[in-house]
Amino acid sequence: MAYFSISIHQWFRQSSRSLPWRKTNNSYKIWLSEIILQQTRVDQGLNYYLKFVENFPTVFDLAEASEDQVLNLWQGLGYYSRARNLHFTAKLIVDQYDGVFPTAYKDVLSLKGVGVYTAAAICSFASNLPYAVVDGNVYRVLARYFAVDTPIDSTIGKKVFQDLADELLDREQPGNHNQALMELGALVCTPKSPDCENCPVALMCQSRKEGTQLSFPIKTKKIKVRKRYLHFFVFCVKDKVVLLKRDENDIWKGLYQFPLIETDSEILSGDEVQNRFGDITAITDITLKHQLTHQTLFATFHRVFVDEYQTLKGEILVKNIDLIDYGMPQLLIRYMEDRDIFTL
Ligand code: ADE
Repeated sequence: MAYFSISIHQWFRQSSRSLPWRKTNNSYKIWLSEIILQQTRVDQGLNYYLKFVENFPTVFDLAEASEDQVLNLWQGLGYYSRARNLHFTAKLIVDQYDGVFPTAYKDVLSLKGVGVYTAAAICSFASNLPYAVVDGNVYRVLARYFAVDTPIDSTIGKKVFQDLADELLDREQPGNHNQALMELGALVCTPKSPDCENCPVALMCQSRKEGTQLSFPIKTKKIKVRKRYLHFFVFCVKDKVVLLKRDENDIWKGLYQFPLIETDSEILSGDEVQNRFGDITAITDITLKHQLTHQTLFATFHRVFVDEYQTLKGEILVKNIDLIDYGMPQLLIRYMEDRDIFTL
């Protein structure tokens, strides 16, 4: 497979993006970048990576931070369990590895939030160990190049593609090889409009010969999307609002939100409001739709203006000007920004 590897290396040297985590072999920073880039585009993740490296230059700094500090910095990236795992793992590395990031594949794989893709990425980029990465980009490049019709979301498909990637891997420079393959998928072999004219391996690409590039990769399962109806009550108590922390194992765990009633349909009955809050006058404001991978959220915001508020368990009163210090879901921030709640 020398043709494939040599061609993508040469292309990578000439055409790849200059990204900060490619200029280091510090395992901690590479781990940080990979956790941030899971389910996040490079252009969005880049600023977060820079912020994290600046605030927490070493694993000790991250371990010493509070969970609220980490979640606050993570705000807007979504999938907050990644941030909690990041913090947990930093503390574990300090406690169990004396702050020295592990290099052995099995140790890296055992870290919370690190699966086979991320372990291979960390070990190959930081230590040049011969582990082939298979992420969404790699699935697409390999499925098209070899015209593989095994669905990528099947158990057998995962094995077929991992075996192919292992076989193709340049064992002299696994880190560069993996980066080059992922970069090819990100810049050239893109999902909707692959730029085959500028592809370094177009000559030998099977799906290009057949003109079937867009049929690959093949998937079987459609993801089911659940609808959720969230009614947030924004209690404005003079210059303060009521917040509480989400602690259940659900989206946004550890972030702060307004008191919430969740319903099975878009309708919220007066009884439900009465049972939860007693006699209040709520002004229904707006419903915002927010799409997550497996859930469509319909968030309706109700404003309640009161002079006094008796906080219930877990609730806190926060000054509007201090809201910025609380990690909150992007959806609520969008609402507050539109309504000038930060500065009221
Ligand atoms: N996505 C995940 N890891 C990446 C990396 N190291 N470079 C570019 N995109 C990525």
